[in-house]
Amino acid sequence: MTHSQNIVLSAQQLSRHYQIPQGFGKSKATVKALNGVSFELAQGKTLAIVGESGCGKSTLARQLTLIEEPTGGSLYVNGQDTTHLNKNAQKKLRTEIQMVFQNPYGSLNPRHTIGFQLTEPLDIHTSLSKTEKKDQVEAIMKQVGLRPEHVGRYPHMFSGGQRQRIALARAMMLNPKIIVADEPTSALDVSIQAQVLNLFMDLQDAYHTAYVFISHNLSVVRHVADDLMVMYLGKAVEHGPKKAIFDKPCHPYTQALLAAAPSLNGHQAQIKLAGELPSPLNLPQGCALHLRCPFAQETCGHSEPELRPWQGRLVACHRLEEIAA
Ligand SMILES: Nc1ncnc2c1ncn2[C@@H]1O[C@H](COP(=O)(O)OP(=O)(O)OP(=O)(O)O)[C@@H](O)[C@H]1O
Ligand SMILES: [Mg+2]
Repeated sequence: MTHSQNIVLSAQQLSRHYQIPQGFGKSKATVKALNGVSFELAQGKTLAIVGESGCGKSTLARQLTLIEEPTGGSLYVNGQDTTHLNKNAQKKLRTEIQMVFQNPYGSLNPRHTIGFQLTEPLDIHTSLSKTEKKDQVEAIMKQVGLRPEHVGRYPHMFSGGQRQRIALARAMMLNPKIIVADEPTSALDVSIQAQVLNLFMDLQDAYHTAYVFISHNLSVVRHVADDLMVMYLGKAVEHGPKKAIFDKPCHPYTQALLAAAPSLNGHQAQIKLAGELPSPLNLPQGCALHLRCPFAQETCGHSEPELRPWQGRLVACHRLEEIAA
């Protein structure tokens, strides 16, 4: 990344550990759901986060959108340190970073009309006149492909794809710098997914919004991402420009993810992982992947690999020299 770019979101060693009770008389256990993730995101760019279920993607999303407070590391939204913010400053900063969920019911209230829900952010955070607010709501509805006369309808009167358009319109109402979208198209029919993805892209072009786009679907990610971060058990294992990673995945885990996506695996490596994802309650020693990795050697079992620069991206693997030369 060059310094001329305007960084709107920056995370350093961001962590979220959860303490969970183990039963009566026992000490609490620690779930390391997010375990030291760092990245920078520039205005108008998209960082995609991929990784299998349980690797910490939604946990990361909740830290980025200030829904939860990280247990470690630091987070800057639009240049502002989010740790130790007072309530007012937090409320203000929240308008800069909005979230879109997999299930639009997560962000839409079934008991209020669309018009009400799109106007609400303007009511709370602006002093626009009634007419100005009405104009803005109509404009955004048009922009997301909804008819302005639908303002009086309720969420259940729309299709899944339309509801996701409304959720995106609501997230866009205050022109945020960043949108964090957690599997925004996973619940939609394949035919509708592409339309909603195109809407994301169109709005990004129009408003230069930065996206953190979470998906387990690599073909979706290939469509939208500038940068890609592959997560495994709460950490990044490979992180860099999308093109570099799709052209040549270097980490065994990325190779396995791509090999499992039939339409995408133009590359040679056809690697398969053994076994299941270990629990973040009890992370393996050394490299978190070593028990499942076909390339694992003794070192991998006792020393944890750091992310290091490798062929135009960052990769955390001891054996890169041999497996990804
Ligand atoms: N509040 C919590 N308390 C305890 N453990 C939690 C909590 N939230 C998440 N976890 C655990 O943290 C890990 C990561 O969960 P997370 O939901 O972030 O994964 P994910 O990558 O979003 O998965 P998916 O693809 O299924 O949505 C999981 O093992 C989960 O059980
Ligand atoms: Mg999730």
